[in-house]
Amino acid sequence: ETLKKLPKSEHPNLIVGFNKADDAGVFRINEHQALVQTVDFFPPIVDDPYYFGQIAAANALSDVYAMGGKPLTALNIVGFPGNLPSTILRGILLGGSEKIEEAGAVIVGGHSIKDNELKYGVSVTGIININQIITNAGAETGNNLYLTKPLGTGIITTGIKRDAISPELIKTVIDQMAALNKEASEIMIKYNAKAATDITGFGLLGHAYEMATASKVTIRIFSEKLPILSEVLRLAEEGMVPGGTFTNREYLKDKYLISDKLNKNIEHILFDPQTSGGLLIAVAQEYVDGFEKEMKSRNIFNRLIGQVEVSGNYSLIIE
Ligand code: CO
Ligand code: CO
Ligand code: CO
Repeated sequence: ETLKKLPKSEHPNLIVGFNKADDAGVFRINEHQALVQTVDFFPPIVDDPYYFGQIAAANALSDVYAMGGKPLTALNIVGFPGNLPSTILRGILLGGSEKIEEAGAVIVGGHSIKDNELKYGVSVTGIININQIITNAGAETGNNLYLTKPLGTGIITTGIKRDAISPELIKTVIDQMAALNKEASEIMIKYNAKAATDITGFGLLGHAYEMATASKVTIRIFSEKLPILSEVLRLAEEGMVPGGTFTNREYLKDKYLISDKLNKNIEHILFDPQTSGGLLIAVAQEYVDGFEKEMKSRNIFNRLIGQVEVSGNYSLIIE
């Protein structure tokens, strides 16, 4: 409520500002190009500093990829407790820098403060062609909706904190969260994606809702087609559901219609907060074949999970 009293940020060159609930801000710098800017940081979600650094950087870069941008520069943001050994910080920064290099971007600096709770993140600046900006707002009736990473990282990281996850599954989840959405982004640009967003803290439905309202459409999700990390359903059944799931669900009440035939644990997965999740991409029918073939030939995980429909009583329908 108090945030609403802040002045609106407006500028003739500001194409996407923070009032649009999009993944990153977009600011025109000349006739053809715009900057894409984003920042994200959070406390460790895995024990290993190096992998935490990789995941936090991949997560921050993802907002630039979700807009169709190309990352150029990065700034590290660190909150570090004075009583921890500096080898931990070194591991985090090493993991982060490797991901930033993989993205083809360069670290130009950063800032650290002493903090009771460790935090790491990255601010990323990218570049984008004005006519290739992919926002939340362009999804059209008849578009296919694709998701490029399986769901369930919130439930599994909750399980990790409770020592309930096997080392093999921890490795799988770390690899997935550390994976860049770079190639998926390149492919969606090539096949003229109408809209895209990355799936993070608000869960699949939270981010799908942002797309549905910005695009003034209804999004139908095929629950049977959802890609779900292994063991997630069992963990949800055992109650390893993060608090954010309930906040996400509460926020969307009245906005969605879920078939009552649906398994209750699938509902937890629909609202599960993701870290460094996949891209949700709306593709027009004329480009669907090319998009699917290229995703397959480049070995990028990709699943058709829904469809864009004419706006109705609910923003989201889950069947
Ligand atoms: Co995002
Ligand atoms: Co973000
Ligand atoms: Co400074």
